[in-house]
Parts: sequence; structure tokens; C-alpha cells
Amino acid sequence: MAVDYTTRDGVAVITLNNPPVNGLGLSTRAGIVEGIERALSDASVTAIVLTGAGKAFSGGADITEFNTPKATQEPTLATAIKVVEGSTKPVVAAIHSVAMGGGLELALGTHYRLAAPGAQIALPEVKLGILPGAGGTQRLPRAIGLEAALNMIVSGAPVMSEKLAGTGLFDEVVEGDLLEAAIAFARKVGAQAGPHPRVRDRKIEHPNAEGFIQFARNGVAGVAKNFPAPHKCIDAVEAGVKNGFDKGLAFERECFVSLVQTPESRALRHAFFGERAASKIPDVPSDTPVRDIHQVAVIGAGTMGGGIAMNFVNAGLPVTLLETKQDALDRGVATIRKNYEGTVKKGKLTPEALEQRMALITPTLSYEDLGNADLIIEAVFEELGVKEQVFKRLDEVAKQGAILASNTSTLDLNRIAAFTKRPQDVVGMHFFSPANVMKLLEVVRGRDTSKDVLATVMKIAKKIRKTAVVSGVCDGFIGNRMIEQYIRQALFMLEEGALPAQVDRAIEKFGFAMGPFRMSDLAGNDIGWAIRKRRYLEHPEMHYSKIADRLCETGRFGQKTGGGWYDYKAGDRTAHPSKLVEEMIVAFSKDVGAGRRKISDEEIVERLVFALVNEGAKILEEGIASKASDIDMVYLTGYGFPLWRGGPMLYADTVGLYNVERAIRRYASRPNGDAWQIAPGIVELAAKGRGFNG
Ligand code: 3HC
Ligand code: NAI
Repeated sequence: MAVDYTTRDGVAVITLNNPPVNGLGLSTRAGIVEGIERALSDASVTAIVLTGAGKAFSGGADITEFNTPKATQEPTLATAIKVVEGSTKPVVAAIHSVAMGGGLELALGTHYRLAAPGAQIALPEVKLGILPGAGGTQRLPRAIGLEAALNMIVSGAPVMSEKLAGTGLFDEVVEGDLLEAAIAFARKVGAQAGPHPRVRDRKIEHPNAEGFIQFARNGVAGVAKNFPAPHKCIDAVEAGVKNGFDKGLAFERECFVSLVQTPESRALRHAFFGERAASKIPDVPSDTPVRDIHQVAVIGAGTMGGGIAMNFVNAGLPVTLLETKQDALDRGVATIRKNYEGTVKKGKLTPEALEQRMALITPTLSYEDLGNADLIIEAVFEELGVKEQVFKRLDEVAKQGAILASNTSTLDLNRIAAFTKRPQDVVGMHFFSPANVMKLLEVVRGRDTSKDVLATVMKIAKKIRKTAVVSGVCDGFIGNRMIEQYIRQALFMLEEGALPAQVDRAIEKFGFAMGPFRMSDLAGNDIGWAIRKRRYLEHPEMHYSKIADRLCETGRFGQKTGGGWYDYKAGDRTAHPSKLVEEMIVAFSKDVGAGRRKISDEEIVERLVFALVNEGAKILEEGIASKASDIDMVYLTGYGFPLWRGGPMLYADTVGLYNVERAIRRYASRPNGDAWQIAPGIVELAAKGRGFNG
């Protein structure tokens, strides 16, 4: 049963009991209505307490029911709230913890509300591409005022209950036993004559509501241009202000019904569940024991090592930082300090906290200092020989059971693990640059990596606030293996007639944070060049455009050399189209005998995105990623794929795999078509009329 019912001294206690977060699915909603009716028909009951079991009062509507028949089956949430609000016996909400979305809307339908301090209160629907659909846009402004309510609704951000004490939302914020207090409160109000107060009957007082709403609209316009929901939130609140509660409620409903079907909402819900699904590994049960991580060590204090160390220090874990030479060590520590100083300057960290964090770092040149580390992450030069030295040495000094991780981006983790006598303890932790900022962490599962090591790394990833996605061992893992195909297409298109700025513009219009050529100039064109040189030797059968090699031969490595695909002025990262590069590209096309043609933006987007999708499908078939949403999480958190499109695999589902297959076959029949080997998985799913996500 999703709802429990008991009575205490004339008070009915209705307890939502639908783990994990008391989602308001059909059975919970039905249980609430039944509970109220039972209390109303029991003459010995004078009042009702509504509360939640476990870790939440309620996390809101059950998102998994959206767009299924259950979502609209009676009693809907609106009906359940109506029943609560219409109860002739007073209903008291006891909010001990999270009250979000529909959970808060349910509480707003009660007559009185008590909360424990520290309860997270939010209307986070906007983060799922929708708006509060059960009266939240109407009742919250009446409870806490227009400005505070609109801020909560448009941002979706949680506010602690104690911050809302003294508003019309809470009658009391109670230290101590909340349930006891709520029962006592209920007994008191149960003895009073009704009717009991309803939030819907309050007025929205504001000296200049229209002005504030316009101000909010201007604020949203700049930041939410690809998301319809924030605009609708404002519209719905405004409708209530102008036309009253009932009309506002009806308008809110209309907006909810249309938003829940938008691709943006689907994408945001996909990301919500994708993030949580990523932490679950099919053959690693959730009760797998984890190892304790109290002390971390990082080898190499360069670009990556420093950022990696900061992640752990930020989470309060001490880090020993090892380098080979004192000056490299000093430089690494100084860079970390400089980074924190930047945060202090922005007012986001106090000088005391900076010192506390720096104090958690122990710089060393000696491997002997690593003996007590529970997790050691290597971030030294990307050369197998150097990795060999490091891992052999770690095998000698690391304590039994320590996890040995490598941040390698291209090397074979199984070979690295084989440098030790404990390959079960070796795992890849592939951070992205800047490692203290980027959310993505690819966790590379080697042939022998043990399950408890994986479970531990996934847990620690959560602690350092990363989105961890497991990848099998292959060249480039999930993210870089896919991006290689994307860049390969970008280069072919230059050869066939496009220019860098056109390619970048088209894909940035699609929503990528940065097009391939601006990205390459930022990362350094020499990196891709080195990878291609290796490819030419390892895979001579693979066909690459040599156009980027020609650019690199001129020394144009990107921003760091003052020029790459674009020209740059000193101290300025603005990319200016380069006449020289254009001439080089046109000459290259001529030299390789490729006629230049006009390439449409649509073709650019298709070739780039479908190259990702095709490789992603192969990655799934090979079991490198265990689910399509993992690939999407990699692209959303590490590669600037537009969030409102949900990642490459969900985007392909939206386009339809039938259409994706047709496009790939079309490109495969054209010049440079040999780069398109269609993934059998696409063909198979398209034939069944299915997508990657069902
Ligand atoms: N519906 C369905 N499942 C939900 C859910 C919801 N509203 N909220 C959380 N879950 C599930 C998660 O998917 C996860 O499932 P899993 O264990 O199978 O992976 C499980 O509950 C636990 O979630 P978390 O790992 O996120 O647990 P935390 O303790 O870290 O956080 C939380 C709890 C703060 C409630 C967080 O889950 C959260 O923010 N949830 C979403 C809240 C939300 O957006 N509510 C609005 C829903 S829409 C709505 O109410 C519409 C209404 O206006 C009509
Ligand atoms: P870096 O050159 O900035 O830093 C490497 C550091 O390791 C240097 O400070 C060097 O002194 C130190 N070092 C070298 N040999 C050592 C040894 N034997 N013992 C201890 N320290 C040693 O390189 P970067 O960019 O930080 O890369 C490190 C690793 O991270 C590489 O494996 C790289 O492939 C990987 N990586 C790099 C990314 C990037 O964007 N730079 C992204 C993801 C992974």
C-alpha cells in the first residue's frame, strides 16, 4: 500500500509510503483520497495529519507516469488536492523533509503546514521542461508572495524550510519531534470551528505586480531561449494575478498538458533519469560492498592532476600530490592556489576556506608517502612507458586494497593494469579538462577491474559531484571515440566545399556550445594531429581528410599559436575567419581533385550528429556503453551537446531511426562515403520501428 492510515487521540495520520521519494503515482493519489474519506466518515476523528515516510514528504508527481494513461487516471493529483482542500476536518501537513513539485502542491492544498528545519522546499518542474501542474503557480504566490514564488517557480531551486518560516507557507517550523507537534497542532485546530483557511482564498498583494512580471520576463528571455517552460511559468503566474485563482488554475493546466509533450521536456526528463541510471551498472548489484576512501593521492601535478586533486579537496578529502621534480610540484601547487584565489575574487569562497583547502594538500616527491592512500589517481604524461614506471612503483608502495586509477585518455587500460600484480584494483578515471569544473567522469572498466572497485569509484564520483559513466576499454572510450567520427566528417566537409566558420555556425545554431573548429583551436590542433598520425600507422585502411595535417604543417595549432582554423588577436579568444586558411582549404580541394560545392547547414548538422549516432550505436553493440542514455550523459556533460535535445541518441530517436538510416546511406553513397559504415544496430532498430530508448 502506498499510503498508511492510523489514528492517534482523535487525529487521523495519513502517511505517504511510496519509496524512494513518495512519488504521487496513481496508487498514492488514490490512497490520499481514501484516507481523507475514511477520516471524514470516522466520527472519533477531528483532524487529519498528512505526512511522508522515509526520506521525503514527497518528491512530487511520479515522473515515470508522464504521458502514460496513469497520469490522467482519476484520482489525478488535482482531484486529490481538491479532496484535501475540501475536507471539512482540518488537514495539517507535516513536512519533515523534501517537499517538491506535486508534493509541495499537495501541501499547499492542506489547511495548515508544519515543517522541520532543513526540509528542501521546491517547485522544480521547470527543470523537467514543464511547470507546476497542480496549482503551484497559483497557490505559492498566495502563500509566500509574488516575487519569492516566481523566483522559486522559474529557477526550480530548493529553499530550506527555515528560510520560509514566517511566510504564509508554514504555520510553524518545528525543532524536535515534528509528528508529535503536528498531532498536537491538529488536535488544537480540530477543536476549532471551521471553515479552515485555504491558500486559494488569499490575495496576491504586490505594489506593482505587472512591473515585476515584466522584469521576470526580461530575465528569462536571455537565459532560456531554447526552453519554453520558464516563459510559461511566468504566463501562468500572471494569469492568476490578473484573472483570479480558478482561471489561473485552468490556464496552468493547459500549459502543463502542452509542455509535457514537448521534445524539450522529454529531453530534460531523459537527462534526469539518465543521470541516475548512469550510476547503475547492470552486473554490479546496488548492495556491492564499497571500499572506504579517506585518503587520496594524485600522481602528476600538471593540467589534469591539479584539477583532479581540487575535486577531492573540495569534498573535504585530503590529497597527497606527487611529482618527480620540486619545481613541477611547486608549479602544480601554485596553480591550484591561483585557481582558488580566482574563486575567492569572485566571492564564491572565503579566504579561510581557501587556506583550509590548501591545507588538505600534501605535496611530495616520495612514493613512500603514498602508503596510506585508499585511492591513487595517475595523471602523468600520456606515454605507456611512463605509465609503466608509475604503476610498477605503485604496486610496490600502495597498501593492499588501494584503488589504482589512471586518467589516461587514449592508452589501453588493460595493459596499464598488467603492469601491476593487482589488475582487479586498477580502473580508469577519465576526467575532462578543466577537471575541477567539468561534470563528466568516464569510469573505464578494465578486463579484470573488480566490482567493488567500480562500485566504490561510482560512489566517490557522486561525492565529488561528477556524472560518472562507465565505459569499456576501447580507443577513445565513449566520448572521444565518437568525437573522432564527428571531426572526420567536419574535415571532409571542408574538402568538399565548406569553410570552418560555416560548419561551426551551423552546429552552434543546432545548439552545440562550440563548433568543431573553434573547439580544435582551443584544445590545440596538434593533439588531433598526433592521434591521426597514430591512426595512419595502426589503421592504414581508414580514410581521413589530410586537410588538417596541412594546417598543422604550417604551425597553426590554434589559440596557443595565435592562429589555427581562425586568426586570433593577442590576449583575445575571439575567432576571426582567416583569409589564409580559406585559400589553403580551396587549394587543398583542388589538389585532391575534389570539386567544391555549396553544403547546406542541414547537411552539416546531419553529417556531424549522425556520425556521433552511428559510432554510438557501435559502442552499444560492442558493450562499451551499457545503455543509450549513458552515451547521452557523456555528450550532455562533457561535450556541450544541447541539453534540450537530450543527447545524440535521444535526438536520433526524435528524428526517427528510419530517417537516420536513410540519411547515412545517402551520405555513404557520396564522395568520402567510405567513412560511413552503418551500425547494424540502427538498421535493426529502424526495421522494428524502435529507437535506442525504446
Ligand atoms: N518521480 C519518479 N521517480 C522519482 C521522482 C519523481 N518525482 N523523484 C525521484 N525519483 C526517483 C529517482 O529516479 C531515483 O530512482 P532510482 O533509485 O531508481 O534511480 C530515486 O527516486 C531516488 O532519487 P535520487 O537519487 O535523486 O535521490 P536523492 O535523495 O538524491 O534526491 C529528490 C531526492 C530531491 C526528491 C530528487 O530525486 C529530485 O529532485 N527529484 C525530482 C523532483 C521533481 O522534479 N519533482 C517534480 C516532479 S513533476 C511534478 O510534480 C508535476 C506536478 O507539478 C504536477
Ligand atoms: P601535463 O603534461 O600537464 O601534466 C603531466 C604531469 O605529470 C607533469 O607535471 C609532469 O611533471 C608529471 N609527471 C610526468 N612523469 C611523472 C612521473 N613519473 N611521476 C610523477 N609525475 C610525473 O599533462 P596533462 O594534460 O595533465 O595529462 C595527464 C594525463 O591526463 C595524460 O594521461 C592525459 O592523456 C590525460 N588527460 C588529459 C586531458 C587534457 O585535456 N589535458 C584530458 C583527459 C585526460
